Amino acid sequence: MRVVVVFFTLALCAATWALDNGLMRTPPMGWLAWERFRCDIDCDNDPKNCISEQLFMDMADRLSEDGWRELGYVYVNIDDCWSSMKRDAQGRLQADPKRFPGGIAKLARYMHDRGLKLGIYGDMGTHTCGGYPGTTLDTITLDAQTFADWEVDMLKFDGCYSNATEQAQGYPSMSKALNATGRPIGYSCSWPAYQGGLPPKVNYTELGQICNLWRNYGDIEDSWGSVLSVADWFFENQDILAPAAGPGRWNDPDMLVIGDFGLSMDQSRSQMAMWAVMAAPLFMSNDLRTISSGARTILQNKMLIGINQDPLGVQGIRILKEKSGIEVFWRPLSAGASALVFFSRRTDMPYRYQSALSKLNYTSGRYQVHDVFSGKTDALKDSTPFVVSVNPSGVVMWHVSAPAADKPRLHTGGKLRGPAYYRHDDNNNDLPPAFL
Ligand SMILES: *[C@@H]1O[C@H](CO)[C@@H](O)[C@H](O)[C@H]1NC(C)=O
Ligand SMILES: *[C@@H]1O[C@H](CO)[C@@H](O)[C@H](O)[C@H]1NC(C)=O
Ligand SMILES: *[C@@H]1O[C@H](CO)[C@@H](O)[C@H](O)[C@H]1NC(C)=O
Ligand SMILES: *[C@@H]1O[C@H](CO)[C@@H](O)[C@H](O)[C@H]1NC(C)=O
Repeated sequence: MRVVVVFFTLALCAATWALDNGLMRTPPMGWLAWERFRCDIDCDNDPKNCISEQLFMDMADRLSEDGWRELGYVYVNIDDCWSSMKRDAQGRLQADPKRFPGGIAKLARYMHDRGLKLGIYGDMGTHTCGGYPGTTLDTITLDAQTFADWEVDMLKFDGCYSNATEQAQGYPSMSKALNATGRPIGYSCSWPAYQGGLPPKVNYTELGQICNLWRNYGDIEDSWGSVLSVADWFFENQDILAPAAGPGRWNDPDMLVIGDFGLSMDQSRSQMAMWAVMAAPLFMSNDLRTISSGARTILQNKMLIGINQDPLGVQGIRILKEKSGIEVFWRPLSAGASALVFFSRRTDMPYRYQSALSKLNYTSGRYQVHDVFSGKTDALKDSTPFVVSVNPSGVVMWHVSAPAADKPRLHTGGKLRGPAYYRHDDNNNDLPPAFL
């Protein structure tokens, strides 16, 4: 007998768990400075790349003029090293006057005038990771109000220079303080990344109630090894992480480094495919002024973005790890559709992987299969064998329609892996799989 699970229960529950600010019902998309531009503050010698209002205005121009904004990439996010080393006379955080002469409020207006949003960075602790003024328990209310006064739209709240006790107080307090300002501000918490990353130390139910997204793991770097280690960590811990995600509350495996220096085109497609399956926030950290057309094509792939932004908001999982080095990932989408990713860890040559949708536990029926990268469409019966040719460190990615001539049913799970842990009761206790 096949196990068929009703995902809609989850979708309904999710609404009640998420942070109630109405934001980020699908994973946020945009641009974030850190991975590509770090803490370069040398505007005298490196004016085009230093952390300054000009950098963020340049990126905003590219987002609004080069077709990014229309695809959903609307956040322009500042990371560390934006502030002055000193708070102002009233004790408020202030931008570095030389690098941000117009101040943050003016930068926020610049974004809003272009249909974009501005994100800022803070740190729960005495100092930011880069050594700038942090937010301690006694300045949380003031700093939240300062960000709201500037009309900022999102806060990434890092966790350097604080201990576990302070973090357990500080992260929920900042959530309350942001809410109290009355301005909807998306809230990204780095808390889990400072709790040793791994559950059970992290209470994901609580996180989902106080944060819109959270970093679970270390910083991504501009290399395939780094991207792979991040992806591996998320899929190895998918049993705990996937159920934590849903509309308004997302696991954040960190930035997209597509368009930088470390990834081949195949590896770039792999990062994009895995991030889409994980329902990950899509924050690019690259130079949009000089990005190659190849990288842009991958980042602007509409079907891929559609999969990432699917309104059901279910985080996908790895369903197979073959001895050949091929792995298969699956994400259920709304209206009975799904996404499949065939990924190769091989280092020799394109591998011809053979399977059938029935082998991947799809229910019987006829499916429309769209290859996300080639654009090709095929009709495929569940029982028809197929072969995909997967490049070394590359992917083949499919959007699979609901089966025709049948009620929309979803991929089933067996002992799985999948569906069983997508079902929860109102108290977030796991329910056994439903057998139909
Ligand atoms: C603050 O929280 C309340 C109750 O959870 C919610 O209704 C409201 O929309 C929130 N406001 C903001 C600005 O986040
Ligand atoms: C955490 O830091 C606070 C403030 O510095 C200190 O009072 C407290 O003892 C520390 N707690 C632990 C568990 O280290
Ligand atoms: C996790 O947080 C939720 C919501 O705050 C709470 O009800 C629950 O008891 C917590 N679980 C654990 C194991 O602490
Ligand atoms: C398909 O279902 C079977 C039996 O329930 C299970 O053992 C297997 O792991 C599932 N395969 C996949 C790819 O989900």
